[in-house]
Amino acid sequence: FTSAKRPPVVWLSFAECTGCAEATLRTTYPWIDELLLDIISLDYQETLMAPSGEAAEKSLHDTIAKNEGKFICVVDGSIPTAENGVYGMIGGKTFLEIAKEVCPKALATICIGTCASYGGIPAAAPNPTGAKSVKDAIGVSTLNIPGCPPNPINFVGTIVNYLLFGKLPDLDDKGRPLFAYGKTIHDQCPRRSHFENGEFVTSFDSEEARLGYCLYQVGCKGPETYNNCPAVKFNEGTSWPVQAGHPCIGCSEPDFWDKLSPFYKS
Ligand code: SF4
Ligand code: SF4
Ligand code: F3S
Repeated sequence: FTSAKRPPVVWLSFAECTGCAEATLRTTYPWIDELLLDIISLDYQETLMAPSGEAAEKSLHDTIAKNEGKFICVVDGSIPTAENGVYGMIGGKTFLEIAKEVCPKALATICIGTCASYGGIPAAAPNPTGAKSVKDAIGVSTLNIPGCPPNPINFVGTIVNYLLFGKLPDLDDKGRPLFAYGKTIHDQCPRRSHFENGEFVTSFDSEEARLGYCLYQVGCKGPETYNNCPAVKFNEGTSWPVQAGHPCIGCSEPDFWDKLSPFYKS
């Protein structure tokens, strides 16, 4: 698949850990070189771009000026709003100012990761920086690809949907594409038959854990978490948390850090 005209993409990084960008680099369908050279034109991304300093700022502003209403804005990280946003700045501007300047000029704003989508870990209690999702911080509607980090296939699938059909995919009531977040982890989990049979892991490093029994009683949040991890897995389909023997911690749900913890039960 090669796009006739690669859509310009501006990627803004705010209060984040770079895990979302690292995850995106590990895309395998397509690989990152094909994504960047044949499918999209990534005109600004601080971790990946060659320019720095004023030259990087120029790339951002030139792309926006040339493509107003036509570029896709990708955001990772939440936006600190306390004290007028002073807790996060780039090039002398707060994240809040940058988001207000760039996002409304985009064709669409895609939030990659739970931080940008819903606030994520930077917004966890007591949230001293007043971190908020992009939507809550600046009032634009966003398409959300949550996960901490999200699976790159869900981001790439969203972009390809746009290139093939000329529109963004259908979303659920939390702004997530239904093709990826339409079902719970629990409803796709290969350990589900153990759940139904009452076969549970009750402690790690036990015989039940080695047998691959259900992780619900050690804290699995699969029944309340919407994501496609069991179907697509990570790292070229190698594995995903429950396959590796770890409970789902609900990383693609709003406020998971506060509402779904403690992550482990025993
Ligand atoms: Fe990092 Fe998770 Fe936030 Fe992505 S969603 S920036 S991986 S903390
Ligand atoms: Fe559901 Fe988690 Fe058990 Fe899988 S391991 S069946 S997601 S509770
Ligand atoms: Fe996150 Fe649960 Fe998938 S923790 S990576 S949504 S299995």
